[in-house]
Amino acid sequence: MHQITLPDGTRVSAIGQGTWKIGEGGRTAKAEADALRLGIDLGMTLIDTAEMYGDGAAEEVVAQAIAGQRNRVYLVTKVYPQNASRTGIPAACTRSLKRLNTEFIDLYLLHWRGGVPLAETVAAFETLRHQGKIRAWGVSNLDPADMRELLTVTAGAACAVNQVLYNPEHRGIEFDLLPWQSTHNIPVMAYSPIGQGGRLLRHPALAALAARHSATPAQIAIAWGLRHPHIISIPKASDPAHVRANAAAADIVLTAQDLATIDAAFAPPKRATSLDML
Ligand SMILES: NC(=O)c1ccc[n+]([C@@H]2O[C@H](COP(=O)([O-])OP(=O)(O)OC[C@H]3O[C@@H](n4cnc5c(N)ncnc54)[C@H](OP(=O)(O)O)[C@@H]3O)[C@@H](O)[C@H]2O)c1
Repeated sequence: MHQITLPDGTRVSAIGQGTWKIGEGGRTAKAEADALRLGIDLGMTLIDTAEMYGDGAAEEVVAQAIAGQRNRVYLVTKVYPQNASRTGIPAACTRSLKRLNTEFIDLYLLHWRGGVPLAETVAAFETLRHQGKIRAWGVSNLDPADMRELLTVTAGAACAVNQVLYNPEHRGIEFDLLPWQSTHNIPVMAYSPIGQGGRLLRHPALAALAARHSATPAQIAIAWGLRHPHIISIPKASDPAHVRANAAAADIVLTAQDLATIDAAFAPPKRATSLDML
């Protein structure tokens, strides 16, 4: 599994593990935690969760998965925008730390932009960082104008990532946000990289490439995202076969011809568009 270097020099696995829908009763918590542990063993040591997921239940499943191996994992969680104030952030962080059963969060993200000024959110993140409760902070679902504004606030340049929707069906960020973030050395953390396991995986272009690589469409979608050196991909999988497949996607190298096939099926953006989000 290759690694991506964050602005503070920390190296994280290029493929991590998402946790949306975990802790919501689809499977047992034990099965979900086992799947995350399998993923860690296969090198997907970055885990992405949020206070929102399962109303905190996903963080509790993550706690089960990382018990006894906290130091192997790079733990990412997110704060709701309505909690992202000077007083709300420390309280939300305390709750997440308790559910995650850990002393610190590696990376704490603003889940999306709300009504709290970015300067206030960043100041609160920085206070948590100085207290050792988080090691780094970042954002999610911020568009280019938001990102430019972020860099104008005190300590805003310490932003570690922007986590946004990115897969072949949603590639608008290639026009402006992705190049801007590359220039500013802020990696993109790509969410829903396999289109939530839906229509994207049935697309004939991905199926043809999958056949050519003795792979699956999901693996092709993940490998496609990882062609860019500033992208971290965080597929969610609770089926152990999916976990194994996702980790193995790190070994797939798409050719220029493969990439052209994907461009023909999913046109790259020709102009700026508003940021897609789920
Ligand atoms: N910041 C944000 O606003 C935001 C928004 C959305 C998502 N996220 C984060 O990004 C993560 C990933 O996004 P996502 O969960 O929306 O969608 P996703 O990872 O694109 O797709 C997850 C779905 O695909 C299935 N799947 C996983 N691996 C597969 C494989 N190899 N072959 C076939 N199907 C496979 C999973 O099934 P099984 O579980 O049954 O294996 C699950 O139903 C989330 O879990 C969350 O951590 C963040």
